[in-house]
Amino acid sequence: MEVTRETAWETLTRYTKSESLLRHALAVEASTRFYARKLGEDEELWGCVALLHDFDYEKHPTLDKHPQDGAPILRDEGYPEVVIDAVLSHAEHLELPRDTPLKRTLFACDELSGFVHACGLVRPTGLDGLEPKSVKKKLKQPSFAAGVHRDEVYAGAELLGLELDEHIANVIAALQPIAGELGLRSAADAA
Ligand SMILES: [Fe+2]
Ligand SMILES: [Fe+2]
Repeated sequence: MEVTRETAWETLTRYTKSESLLRHALAVEASTRFYARKLGEDEELWGCVALLHDFDYEKHPTLDKHPQDGAPILRDEGYPEVVIDAVLSHAEHLELPRDTPLKRTLFACDELSGFVHACGLVRPTGLDGLEPKSVKKKLKQPSFAAGVHRDEVYAGAELLGLELDEHIANVIAALQPIAGELGLRSAADAA
């Protein structure tokens, strides 16, 4: 099968109805695509992997099933191993090697996209004017977006070989164009 955004979106939305999970998928997709463009990689493929990485989470909300029990479903749907392999690699508990730029990028964008999204949600201007400095400050407050694993955010930047500030700035820039889809306000709304 040809992996296109349409097929990935169709699969995702067949298994996922929760708005917050769909927004998570869109946020990780935007960040992963940002890096694909930056690195001259296959943006469509990377974006599809990001859209699908948690596709089975509603069906399999526990780590004894997610994402490993999602893999045979993707295989049945006809997705190639490059997609399935990358999807599986995002899970810390599976301890799979992150041996390609796609796997490293997906891992690095997963938790941080959610965190930056959360930072935008509590600001009247959304992501507009959000500085990496204030994201880092929030990372140090354990009660803010408590579900985000800080150690994975730090490990992700390291895996990409980037300073945390730069990685955060990239994710903010990646999410800005889809702020509306993520339910974020903007400077124009606040004016
Ligand atoms: Fe996941
Ligand atoms: Fe995720």
